[in-house]
Amino acid sequence: AQNERDSLFIILNFASEFFKKQLFQSEEGKSIGLSYFKERGFNEQTIKTFELGYSLDQWDGLLKEAKSKGYSEDILEKAGLILRQENKKYDRFRGRVMFPIQNVAGKVIAFGARTLRSDKKQPKYINSPETDVYHKSNILYGIHQARQAIRNEDLCYLVEGYTDVISMHQAGVHNVVASSGTSLTKEQIQLISRYTKNITVLYDGDSAGIKASFRGIDMILENDLDVRAVVFPDGQDPDSFSRTMTSDAFQEYLKSNARDFITFKTDILTDGGKQTDPTKKVQVIRDIIESISLIPDGIKRSVYVSASANLLDVEEQVLLSELNKLIIQKQ
Ligand code: GTP
Ligand code: MN
Ligand code: MN
Ligand code: MN
Ligand code: MN
Repeated sequence: AQNERDSLFIILNFASEFFKKQLFQSEEGKSIGLSYFKERGFNEQTIKTFELGYSLDQWDGLLKEAKSKGYSEDILEKAGLILRQENKKYDRFRGRVMFPIQNVAGKVIAFGARTLRSDKKQPKYINSPETDVYHKSNILYGIHQARQAIRNEDLCYLVEGYTDVISMHQAGVHNVVASSGTSLTKEQIQLISRYTKNITVLYDGDSAGIKASFRGIDMILENDLDVRAVVFPDGQDPDSFSRTMTSDAFQEYLKSNARDFITFKTDILTDGGKQTDPTKKVQVIRDIIESISLIPDGIKRSVYVSASANLLDVEEQVLLSELNKLIIQKQ
């Protein structure tokens, strides 16, 4: 019901304010959380823009505060803020830096929370569960802060992580959102398509990132948006990479390294052209034809077929007939 959704928004906003207060005012929050953000290079303005916070390393920091203000355990639980074991209730987020996840309008609907420990005993990030106001496949992290810039630039940068969004924003690139570690969904692409039809994917320069970028590219093509991609040096993500250079240099890197998806895939699949084995080449061609077959628009398909024929040095006619076979199979 609408009433229940409203109570969820209210408690989530209360929690977000509480986490912000802990970050800036508590000794623990300042010495652990705030100094962590500062060490990562986030400035005060950035921390405020993304409403970052800190959850105390206690079992009931938020629970106690919320109950003293008259909120029920029931609503805290429905908002995903507390957990229950038998009859014992306790805070879900403890001793972590907090990244509120906001809807398009800026209302807090969930949290991502990063541990500050480097041992592998606990997951690096934990997130709110699905609730009546948080459906993770429908939302993109940073959309509230990015939407106007996406419209103005007629382009959306898509990254993997919270900190990629935040660092890029601080580096002056505001048209950026994150899929936050889940594979990109149709709903997320439709959300972007309200503001632009152009997406550039900036996934981490590791094998997981490359795999995710290939899946993301196919999803975007299937939904009839235009897609480009940028590769980062091995082991770098947009956050770490942006911190190795000035904002101007980073922006320039994005502009000059955004490649159409065919060039991007060919380059990666052939190891920058070094891989010339014919068996491998056949696989690359098939892989690219499969991506092209997902594009609903026939004109675009034919343009990409010509481009691929040139790039891969094969007869356009051969590509076309393979493409048509794939399309017929799908019908
Ligand atoms: P930093 O290490 O803080 O720079 O984070 P990152 O964003 O670079 O992390 P990574 O590239 O490993 O993961 C990308 C995104 O996937 C994160 O921002 C999270 O949204 C999500 N993610 C990463 N690790 C976990 C995890 O252990 N659990 C869950 N649920 N999500 C994760
Ligand atoms: Mn706002
Ligand atoms: Mn990664
Ligand atoms: Mn990172
Ligand atoms: Mn990363």
